[in-house]
Amino acid sequence: MLGGTGEQGRGLARRFALAGHQVVLGSRSAERALAAAEGLPGTVSGAANADAAAAADVVVCAVPWEGHKELLLELAPVLAGKVVVDCVNPLGFDKQGAFALAVEEGSAAEQAALVLPESRVVAAFHHVSAVLLLDETVASMDTDVLVLGDDREATDLVQALVGRITGMRGIYAGRLRNAHQVEALTANLISVNRRYKAHAGVRITDV
Ligand SMILES: NC(=O)c1ccc[n+]([C@@H]2O[C@H](COP(=O)([O-])OP(=O)(O)OC[C@H]3O[C@@H](n4cnc5c(N)ncnc54)[C@H](OP(=O)(O)O)[C@@H]3O)[C@@H](O)[C@H]2O)c1
Repeated sequence: MLGGTGEQGRGLARRFALAGHQVVLGSRSAERALAAAEGLPGTVSGAANADAAAAADVVVCAVPWEGHKELLLELAPVLAGKVVVDCVNPLGFDKQGAFALAVEEGSAAEQAALVLPESRVVAAFHHVSAVLLLDETVASMDTDVLVLGDDREATDLVQALVGRITGMRGIYAGRLRNAHQVEALTANLISVNRRYKAHAGVRITDV
């Protein structure tokens, strides 16, 4: 879990650990990662980002957009051959709320795929609220997760992983060239959250 000391990384780690998976939280500081792992249920450990990446077959990238490209460039050799799940939303914030940033490569997920040619990049978990993931009173996450990627085996694997989290369903939602609007939709969900005091997610009907 790259950036595993943040709310999103810790929250996903918590839910995967509850589902019986071993998780390694990654951080720029191994000490911070170890501290963040404390108190989480199941088998969650902490390590420097590179060591966390080396320890897993599936690596989730949960760092802020600002540090995304640099971190993935640095870790490209260790991420080779692995499935990399990107949940990064390139967003800006001003007085009017959240808005989608223009991304040169099209989306954060496409940037990851360009930087990691030897990895299989899948986009998922953009609309999952870290607050709910970490809330011990929330037993079921009750949301769909849009899963995008260019490698069928990798998207199938990530859909299955999503399905391990109680209440969640992974829905295939297209190739990485369509990741931009999935990342951008998060700005709309933040508007929903502000208006309705909610932690909104998405549900796909008729599937
Ligand atoms: N929060 C949510 O509800 C949510 C929902 C869906 C998707 N996301 C996406 O998930 C990602 C993480 O969100 P978050 O709220 O957990 O973010 P965050 O707390 O701001 O950052 C997560 C971790 O990333 C590391 N980090 C910070 N700046 C970095 C940099 N420049 N380079 C490398 N690592 C850096 C930090 O860990 P260390 O200092 O320990 O290295 C930090 O604890 C974001 O891209 C966000 O768009 C978030």
